[in-house]
Amino acid sequence: MEALALRRGEETATVIEKPRPEPGQGEAVVRTLRVGIDGTDHEILAGEHGGFPEGDDHLVIGHEAVGVVEDANGTAFSAGDVVVPTVRRPPNGTNEYFERGEPDVAPPGAYHERGIEGAHGYAAEYFTSPEQFLVEIPAGLAPLGFLVEPISISEKALELAHSSRSTFDWQPESVLVLGNGSLGLQTLAMLADSVDRLYCLGRRDRPDPTLDIVDEIGATYVDSRETPVPEIPERYEPMDLVFEATGYARHGIESAHALAHNGVAALLGVPRSATFEVDGGEFHERMVLGNRALVGSVNSNRRHFQRAVDSLSSLPAWFTESLVTGVYDLGEFERAFDDDDSTIKTALELSRR
Ligand SMILES: NC(=O)c1ccc[n+]([C@@H]2O[C@H](COP(=O)([O-])OP(=O)(O)OC[C@H]3O[C@@H](n4cnc5c(N)ncnc54)[C@H](OP(=O)(O)O)[C@@H]3O)[C@@H](O)[C@H]2O)c1
Repeated sequence: MEALALRRGEETATVIEKPRPEPGQGEAVVRTLRVGIDGTDHEILAGEHGGFPEGDDHLVIGHEAVGVVEDANGTAFSAGDVVVPTVRRPPNGTNEYFERGEPDVAPPGAYHERGIEGAHGYAAEYFTSPEQFLVEIPAGLAPLGFLVEPISISEKALELAHSSRSTFDWQPESVLVLGNGSLGLQTLAMLADSVDRLYCLGRRDRPDPTLDIVDEIGATYVDSRETPVPEIPERYEPMDLVFEATGYARHGIESAHALAHNGVAALLGVPRSATFEVDGGEFHERMVLGNRALVGSVNSNRRHFQRAVDSLSSLPAWFTESLVTGVYDLGEFERAFDDDDSTIKTALELSRR
C-alpha cells in the first residue's frame, strides 16, 4: 500500500510503499479516507518536532484521520463503520494513564503519538488500531471527520478552563481567541452560539480569507500590530476567557493582561524559545488579586473526541466550507503543505467511501 512518510535525514515527505498492516488481536483494520494536515506536520517535516519509531528509517505522518472499518476482526465495530482514531498509544503494553482513559495527561515517556512521535501515523491506505482507540462517527460526517481530532483539542482546553472556574458562578461573556489559524478559527466557531462578545487577534491586512471568517462569525477582529494584547482591555474590554492559539511566546504571559477579574486563559500554542522582559511582581499580583488563572492544555482523550463529534455536527456548512481550503490526492500531497495566506486547513484523500 502507499503511505506518506518522512524518511530519516530528509526534510520533505515522500510517497513510499509499505506492506498493508496485519491486525493484532482486538484490532480493527481501517481503510483511510482523509487525513488533515496541521502545523505539527509542518514542524515534523522541518525536523522541529516528533521522532521516528524505534528501529525504523521513516515515520508515516498524519494524526488527524477518518476512515472506514474494512475488517472488524472480532471487535465491536462492523465493516463500513466510519471511525476516527485517537492519537496517543502506550509505548509498552499499557500504563495507568491509558487504563484510566486519560492518555492526554500522561508525561513524556508514557506515550507515543501516532504520526508524530514514536509510532506511525495514518497517512496510509490502511491502518490498524485497537478498538478502544477508535471513535465511531455518523457516516454523514465522513468527509469532515478529519476535523474531529483538532476540534477535540479545543474541547479539552475549554473544559480545563471551565473546570478551573467551577468553584464559583462563572459564565464567560467576553472571549478573546489569539490566532486566526485553523485552531483559532474553529474555536471561534464553536463558541459563536454561546458567547455574547467574541474577539479574534491576528496580524493580517484585509482582504484575507481568515478575516472574512472572523467577520462572518460575528467576532471583532483585533490587529495585534495596532493593539498588543495588554492594551486590549482598555481599547475593547477585559476578557473573561482568552484562548491562545498563536504559539507566540509573549502571548503566554500577556494573556494574563487581557483577562477580567476571575478570568482564565487557556494556552495551547507551542512556541520556540524566546527571551523578553516581564514585570514579574505585576504579573504575580495580577494573577492573585484578580483570581485569574492560566491553564496549559495539550492533546485530548476519548471524551473530548466524542464531544468534538457533536461540535462538528453543529458547525454551519458555510464555516467548514470556508475553513477547508483544499483536499488533495496522495499524488499531489505537496499542495496540502502550501503555506500561503489563502491556505487555512487542508487534507489528503487516501480513498473514497
Ligand atoms: N496544545 C495542543 O494540543 C495543540 C494542538 C494543535 C496545535 N497546537 C498549537 O497551537 C498553535 C495554533 O495552531 P494552528 O494550527 O492554528 O497554527 P497556525 O495555523 O500557524 O495559526 C497560528 C495563527 O496565529 C497567528 N499569529 C502568530 N503570531 C501572532 C502574533 N504575534 N499576533 C497575531 N497573530 C499571530 C498567525 O498569523 P499569520 O498566519 O498571519 O502568521 C496564525 O494565523 C500552534 O502553536 C500549534 O503548534 C497545540
